[in-house]
Amino acid sequence: MSVAEDFDPSELPDAYSMPIEELDPSDGRLFEHQKHWAFFERLRKEDPVHLSENEEFGRFWNVTKFKDILAVDTNHQVFSSEPAIVIGDPPEDFTLPMFIAMDPPKHDVQRKIVAPTAAPANLANLEPLIRERVCNILDSLPVGETFNWVDKVSIELTTQMLATLFDFPFEDRRLLTKWSDTATTTDQVGNNYMDEEERKRILWECYDYFVRLWHERENQGEHPKMDFVSLLANNPDTKEMVKDPLEYLGNLILLIVGGNDTTRNSISGGVLALNENPKEYDKLRANPELIPNMVSEIIRWQTPLAHMRRIATQDTELGGKQIKKGDKVVMWYISGNRDESEIDRANEFIIDREKARHHIAFGFGIHRCMGNRVAEMQLKILWEEIMKRFDFVEVVGEPERLMSNFVMGFVDLPVVLHPKK
Ligand code: HEM
Repeated sequence: MSVAEDFDPSELPDAYSMPIEELDPSDGRLFEHQKHWAFFERLRKEDPVHLSENEEFGRFWNVTKFKDILAVDTNHQVFSSEPAIVIGDPPEDFTLPMFIAMDPPKHDVQRKIVAPTAAPANLANLEPLIRERVCNILDSLPVGETFNWVDKVSIELTTQMLATLFDFPFEDRRLLTKWSDTATTTDQVGNNYMDEEERKRILWECYDYFVRLWHERENQGEHPKMDFVSLLANNPDTKEMVKDPLEYLGNLILLIVGGNDTTRNSISGGVLALNENPKEYDKLRANPELIPNMVSEIIRWQTPLAHMRRIATQDTELGGKQIKKGDKVVMWYISGNRDESEIDRANEFIIDREKARHHIAFGFGIHRCMGNRVAEMQLKILWEEIMKRFDFVEVVGEPERLMSNFVMGFVDLPVVLHPKK
């Protein structure tokens, strides 16, 4: 695999300068340079269920409207999640089974085993700890000087949270960030910055680490501790998983990426959105009670996972198009969340929007995000504590974004903090 070369973003195609048949929104660089919006706008208007074909990803349908996405996401009989949920196919010798990429019944069994960790009862127990950590992070930030919000706040907070859900050795927590970033740096999502062999080597390092944790935590009996590894290692349905290295690694990657890249980028995306919409920031200053509503709006606005893909298990029809058995179908959540026919003023960031939870960033159906309450809680606590301390988290430079058609991520977001007077 080649490693990406520098290129000039102005060379990226313009969505309106080509015949509609040629429109293909899957290039990771479009997202990095925010050129994807126009592609989806045009597709929603002119060809909402649109066929693309290219060398990297083959033939695939782009589903761009909210209602069509919902129809696919809630019909797992016709639209299968196996064997993978991103647009590109994994290498044959490195396809990682994980429950997000499984259909029932196996999906349901595995999800049920780990779900209690992210359920409201456990979160209520964790809330004081999360708040304490948020306060520590915010109180240690440099005031009045420029720093990267992504690294010091977004990554630090989500990694701490994830370390808690895994009961992962706290001092080693940045390994989780490294493994998460490695898992999502792949040409399967339009990013070819990492050599595939190097990628595999780092992911096996993750597996080795977690095999140690597994063996330390097995044999806890019927009432294991509430962390992901203890739950998997002690349940009759999954206690042999460690013997299938690809499946154990796959599920680890799912839980690590699920808990990391998503919330992290919503934290950064929220700061940017408020800076770009100063009236909304004023509303927030005047009324911090809006925070829970704003959190949903931030998640819709950012849509940190741009897509999920399915494979049709039979011939079917979608939005007037004939989908053939075996076709790839890509649900572009990032587009559905800007669909004006479903969401009023969808292209505006409005923190007191009515029905703010009516978005599709967490998906729908049997795979609907298992961590949605974890994410909302982290964002809510973070903004409550930010508003107690800072009058303005000011973005002072251009954000640098990730090249990916999957993770809508930030690499750098330079900010300066202005404390409350
Ligand atoms: C803003 C934050 C987050 C967003 C936007 C997000 C988004 C998503 C999406 C789009 C899906 C697939 C839904 C579908 O196919 O219908 C998903 C699944 C999942 N997410 Fe999240 N996620 C977030 C945070 C989290 C967190 C914090 C965790 C872990 C604690 C997590 C764990 C998972 C898991 C395990 C699945 C697979 C569920 C299944 O297949 O049944 N997510 N997430």
